Amino acid sequence: MDPDAVRATDEVAELAGIVGAVAADLALGAARLALGRPDERRASLACAALTRAGFGARSTLAGHTALAGVVRVHGIVIRRAASDFSNDSEKQKTQVFDSHTREVAALVPGRRGAEASGSRFAVRGCMKIGIVGCGMVGSASAFALVMHGVGREIVLVDLDRKRAEAEANDINHAVPFAHPLTVSAGDYAELAGAGVVVIAGGVAQRPGETRLALLQRNADVFRQIVPSVLRHAPGCILLVVTNPVDIMTHLAARFAADFGVPPTRVLGSGTTLDTARFRALLGRHFDVDARHVHGYVIGEHGDSEVIVWSQATIAGLNLEEFAAVRRTPLTLADRAQIDENVRRAAYQIIAGKGATYYGIGSAVAHIIDALLHDRRAVLTICSGVSGMAAAEGVTIAQPHLIGGAGVLATIPLTLEPAEQRAFERSSSILRDAIQSLELAEQRRP
Ligand SMILES: NC(=O)c1ccc[n+]([C@@H]2O[C@H](COP(=O)([O-])OP(=O)(O)OC[C@H]3O[C@@H](n4cnc5c(N)ncnc54)[C@H](O)[C@@H]3O)[C@@H](O)[C@H]2O)c1
Repeated sequence: MDPDAVRATDEVAELAGIVGAVAADLALGAARLALGRPDERRASLACAALTRAGFGARSTLAGHTALAGVVRVHGIVIRRAASDFSNDSEKQKTQVFDSHTREVAALVPGRRGAEASGSRFAVRGCMKIGIVGCGMVGSASAFALVMHGVGREIVLVDLDRKRAEAEANDINHAVPFAHPLTVSAGDYAELAGAGVVVIAGGVAQRPGETRLALLQRNADVFRQIVPSVLRHAPGCILLVVTNPVDIMTHLAARFAADFGVPPTRVLGSGTTLDTARFRALLGRHFDVDARHVHGYVIGEHGDSEVIVWSQATIAGLNLEEFAAVRRTPLTLADRAQIDENVRRAAYQIIAGKGATYYGIGSAVAHIIDALLHDRRAVLTICSGVSGMAAAEGVTIAQPHLIGGAGVLATIPLTLEPAEQRAFERSSSILRDAIQSLELAEQRRP
């Protein structure tokens, strides 16, 4: 058999696995089209691979997408597959394949199959990311995405179009030194096909303004942003960064539900940054690479957050054990200093330079990388997906498993009694804030 044909059929199955929603029968059709002739044995292998991967019939679009991917990636000449659309004009065929190729870029949510096999169906370089609100945080996120080579195309949307254009231009000039992404400014319509849309837009606190009044104004901003995004990118994962991030994520999920978006596709950066700060400080204390320090900060992204000392480990040892092995004591005063530096970091940075953005920008890029590449990462994002009585109905940060479909699971930690009480307190602070916001909204004329 023609080796090209063999590869094409195998890759139909693999691509289908990556797309995650391709019907076996459509993939069979796609295999036939891509091969230019039927091949039952290879096509049935493709179907068997699909079945093993656990994908059932879902959508014709996905089937066509698989086809477009095969045609595009495999290089089986478009003309050959296009000839099956025999009633279409050449121009129509080209349009169909162009649009399918864009769909491949937009829809492929993960590369589970690709990673397993080292195939060239990597989604890196195929994905579009939207960022709504490109002030300090939004633009630092775009910069981090370019520096890490996450995604293929970034669209910046902001009320201030000139700012968005200037940021896009500036970041584009870093591309030759980093990774081949394109960064542009656009309107909501340009978010079409985005796999992930970050929301970092919002208004800042006015002098004398209460936290609740600020919340109400940011709720109004989200009431406009979330539908505008979902009208153009209905399949995207929303990643909320705007503060107070737990409450804004809760609101985003509520507004997104009106568009049929499940809570698994709406997440906030939560305490990802606080967790990184905790690990960085422990790493510095023990002189260990922070990537080899495991520990979590959970709860509200704010004053009531909980630093889970009891579960922190290095090399599988708890901190007391590791301190003894390394003969590096971790005194109560050291702990208090680390706690203060984690909890008060944002205040200290804002006092010094007005805003925090590099750390959160890197955290955003890391979360998006986990989503686009289906990394199955454990991150302390915040989400309404909970399996914990203490946080039922509250959008709060705790370890979650993150992958191509968004939030895959909540992983509750085994907390010590004092930590559990602190987590419940943090949870009730967030619950109260949501309730007071809802009450204030009901009272509004
Ligand atoms: N979650 C975290 O860990 C974390 C960390 C740092 C900052 N933040 C939060 O991120 C948010 C952004 O911070 P920043 O420093 O970039 O602020 P910024 O003022 O520099 O940027 C906000 C941007 O949002 C835009 N904007 C406002 N309303 C909009 C709308 N309706 N549509 C589109 N764009 C709109 C503004 O034009 C502005 O460019 C803040 O809420 C901040 O508190 C969160």
